[in-house]
Amino acid sequence: MVKLIGPKKIRIAVFISGTGSNLKNIIKFSLKKISPIEVNLIISNNIKAKGLRFAKFYNIKKKVYNYNQKKISEKRILKDLKSNDIKLICLAGFMKILSKDFIRKFKGQILNIHPSLLPKYKGLNTHDRVIQNKEKYSGCTVHLVNSKLDSGKIILQKKVKLSKKETPLSLQKKILKHEHILYPRAISKILANL
Ligand code: GAR
Repeated sequence: MVKLIGPKKIRIAVFISGTGSNLKNIIKFSLKKISPIEVNLIISNNIKAKGLRFAKFYNIKKKVYNYNQKKISEKRILKDLKSNDIKLICLAGFMKILSKDFIRKFKGQILNIHPSLLPKYKGLNTHDRVIQNKEKYSGCTVHLVNSKLDSGKIILQKKVKLSKKETPLSLQKKILKHEHILYPRAISKILANL
């Protein structure tokens, strides 16, 4: 009998700093038969990142680098990426800025999710600023990473309406739900176009 083997999945690494809800969601997506990816490596700059528990739960290799010396940390990360044959990096709540050198080495192969409708509200404290400015809409964006903060090519974006009583926390929760839908779609989209 001929054993049918599906197309080989693309090996990806997910970088986190905190809760890791996007990480968990990407892992769940990767486990679906139709998914084009497998998560082989989790990188964190924060040993206390809650999301690291998913490494144990899903039996995925994890590495933590403190980033006190960025150059040294990135050199080691690049080594890990190479030895694990990683073809795509997904930043998922990774709160460190990658160096230009690092980005150049993985050009076109790093995705990030940002909780705003880029190019609006780059950087930190997005939800506070959106509410302060009395915006009617916000959202989330998956984009390619380039050397400028939150400025690479947009892959997918989801617009979300604010309610009258919206707070930064309620908005964060609302947008996060959409992030979980958007990120896997963006991954599939970029891989389909490679
Ligand atoms: C997400 O909302 C993500 O968009 C944001 O951090 C959160 C991480 O949540 N990323 C940034 O702000 C990057 N500038 P998670 O750890 O539960 O996935």
